[in-house]
Amino acid sequence: MLALKELIVDHGKLRALWDISLHVNKGERVGLLGANGAGKSTTMGAIVGLYPVAGGEISYQGRSISGSPYESVRSGIALVPEGRRLFPGMSVQENLKMGAFAAASRNNLDALYEQVFSLFPILKEKRNQRAGELSGGQQQMVAIARALMSRPQLLLLDEPFIGVAPLLVEEIMSVLSQISRDGVTMLLVEQNIHRALDFVSRAYVIENGRCVLEGEREALLSDKSFAAKFLGLD
Ligand SMILES: Nc1ncnc2c1ncn2[C@@H]1O[C@H](COP(=O)(O)OP(=O)(O)OP(=O)(O)O)[C@@H](O)[C@H]1O
Ligand SMILES: [Mg+2]
Repeated sequence: MLALKELIVDHGKLRALWDISLHVNKGERVGLLGANGAGKSTTMGAIVGLYPVAGGEISYQGRSISGSPYESVRSGIALVPEGRRLFPGMSVQENLKMGAFAAASRNNLDALYEQVFSLFPILKEKRNQRAGELSGGQQQMVAIARALMSRPQLLLLDEPFIGVAPLLVEEIMSVLSQISRDGVTMLLVEQNIHRALDFVSRAYVIENGRCVLEGEREALLSDKSFAAKFLGLD
């Protein structure tokens, strides 16, 4: 469904991604792991057209995309960005509406609201409150719900559990599982390796802008270099 081939991305003069190749099949849940500054968010941003590609290729459903954020949303990809990026002074519902800006189903807003409210009932209660007044976990729900407003086929999640209380982590994880069972493909960036590997079936490890390891969950868990680097750290 999604394939990155030898992707290179620069931030100004700094090369952030040197060689990223990965793929995500339809219906899969895949993890993208790595230390701070490894290039995880840059990879996610490049997929949705936030950063220009300096080399290599991104293809989605068999087509090369070089895209703008608008086009990537239109083609069925949605990003839940690192740090949520809500508009704190706007209401929950106004934030959700932003997610539907490019959606084909835009004229069906009420149905879209109902769909995300059924996944996150608390957001219905708080729909007229300012997003900035919600707890960290509830704000993360808004960020995920906003992404779902475009009815994506591929959902990119960049550290969705930062600043979220443990109880809400559980709740959000179970909603994400449900969305996944409904057929939405997912690529997840997560710092907590155990949590990530609970959720995904396969993962890539990136280091300094390069993929250094890839494998099924079980293979990673029993890989000595992976275990030495990551397990027991969180
Ligand atoms: N907008 C930017 N301008 C300049 N440099 C950037 C920008 N965004 C990221 N970088 C640099 O690119 C590299 C990769 O950063 P990136 O944010 O992709 O890493 P990350 O794996 O998401 O890290 P973290 O776990 O801290 O979120 C880092 O060296 C970072 O300092
Ligand atoms: Mg990041």
